[in-house]
Amino acid sequence: MASLSLLLVGYLVLAADLGTILGASDGSGAEEMEKDELLGLFDVMSSLLEDQSWVQMHPQPCTATPWPGVECELGEEEEPPLFHVTKVHIGPDILNPPCSSSAFLSRSLVKLPFLKTLSIFNCFTTSRVSLSPSFFTSFSYLEHLTLQSNPTLIGKIPPPPPPLSQAPNLKVLCLKQNGFHGEIPQQLGGLASLEQLDLSYNNLSGQIPQEFGGLKSLTILDLSWNSLEGQLPSSLGNLRLLQKTDLSSNMLNGMIPPELGNLESLVLLDLSYNMLSGPIPSSFSCLENLEYFLIDHNPINSELPLLLSTLKKLKTLSFSDCGLTGTVPTYFPSLKNLTALFLNRNNLSGGVPKNLATLPNLDQLNLSQNQLSGELSLPEGFIYRLGKRGLSKQKSCDSEKYSPSLSAIVSEKQGHVKPNSFGISASVFTGEDGHGRLI
Ligand SMILES: *[C@@H]1O[C@H](CO)[C@@H](O)[C@H](O)[C@H]1NC(C)=O
Ligand SMILES: *[C@@H]1O[C@H](CO)[C@@H](O)[C@H](O)[C@H]1NC(C)=O
Ligand SMILES: *[C@@H]1O[C@H](CO)[C@@H](O)[C@H](O)[C@H]1NC(C)=O
Ligand SMILES: *[C@@H]1O[C@H](CO)[C@@H](O)[C@H](O)[C@H]1NC(C)=O
Repeated sequence: MASLSLLLVGYLVLAADLGTILGASDGSGAEEMEKDELLGLFDVMSSLLEDQSWVQMHPQPCTATPWPGVECELGEEEEPPLFHVTKVHIGPDILNPPCSSSAFLSRSLVKLPFLKTLSIFNCFTTSRVSLSPSFFTSFSYLEHLTLQSNPTLIGKIPPPPPPLSQAPNLKVLCLKQNGFHGEIPQQLGGLASLEQLDLSYNNLSGQIPQEFGGLKSLTILDLSWNSLEGQLPSSLGNLRLLQKTDLSSNMLNGMIPPELGNLESLVLLDLSYNMLSGPIPSSFSCLENLEYFLIDHNPINSELPLLLSTLKKLKTLSFSDCGLTGTVPTYFPSLKNLTALFLNRNNLSGGVPKNLATLPNLDQLNLSQNQLSGELSLPEGFIYRLGKRGLSKQKSCDSEKYSPSLSAIVSEKQGHVKPNSFGISASVFTGEDGHGRLI
């Protein structure tokens, strides 16, 4: 099966034709598929589904008796042409999918060598299932593998075999929200065709493999909500196509490698809830496509860097609880697209720059729990705008209450001040207790 090219076919339409051409009207399905592959599919479905009549109901799954979670394509090179199973999908969007309480991954998956897509959502919820060490060797055509939200899919992620021989086409690998633990196999870094890698919401530990620098086609990397530790590998700077990187909610530490500044395609960078130390590398001024930069809850312990003013596409900048010192910079008005600015829970001192009010799209602003002081002279219109947007989100008509985004500026105790009276009152922040407060 070296270079078999496949042709996607509407199986319902074709079913009638095929019946005449091949005389496959005895219902056995033997003429449209190789028997071994058909029996393999039956095994796989029986191993997963509660409904044990699936096999009786779908004797010709590629033609006369299709099922929405199974797709087939017609092989071109065989004579007569045969159907091959190219997709198996079990998920909540499929009719009657409930998985058996003893669902497992059948070894017969190896009998479906033409699979391009295998996706199993929320199926292993009671029976403990793990991936065999040879799991990835079974599929030579696989492009898309999603095993997601299976709480009892546990154990380690097996290392994929040398990629060029075994999984050369894999583009999407999503193992999100399962019960995997242990280290991330460094061999994943050999999957040079991989475009999306999502291992989030597991209990993976150890470091992010240096070998990830080999994932040259990667556009999305999500390792959030694990227990990863150690430093960020500088090799991640090689991934020039990366657009979204979410490494939040781990235990990563050390300095942020300056090489990350090479990621010119990056739109989203979420490093929040780790133990990364500052300062932000100056190379980050090259991240000119960055729109979302979140790094809350890390011991950055430095001033907000001037380089942020060069990131003109920024929409969300979130630096809460970062030990920021110094003053609130005055460069924010150069970030015309900024809609959310979170600087709460830091050690910022000085005043609130008046020119924040010139940000045309600012929607959410939180400066509370700092040591800001001085007179607050933001124009009434600006305060009103924040307040109004917040109020409409909140669907509250209570004009005596602050909206969420406005209470962001002041502390909770100012709940009785009317939003539109805030701007004109000679408002003063005190810093005695570390809380920005309007009095
Ligand atoms: C996750 O892993 C940590 C240590 O690696 C362990 O202490 C913890 O119990 C694990 N949590 C779960 C839910 O398995
Ligand atoms: C921030 O302020 C707190 C309390 O005022 C202080 O304990 C802490 O050392 C300060 N942190 C930095 C990084 O200055
Ligand atoms: C700001 O957003 C608008 C609309 O999404 C976009 O057209 C514009 O290019 C953005 N500005 C910058 C500097 O990226
Ligand atoms: C603003 O930050 C404070 C603390 O840092 C938090 O308690 C409050 O909920 C935040 N407000 C909004 C609207 O996010």
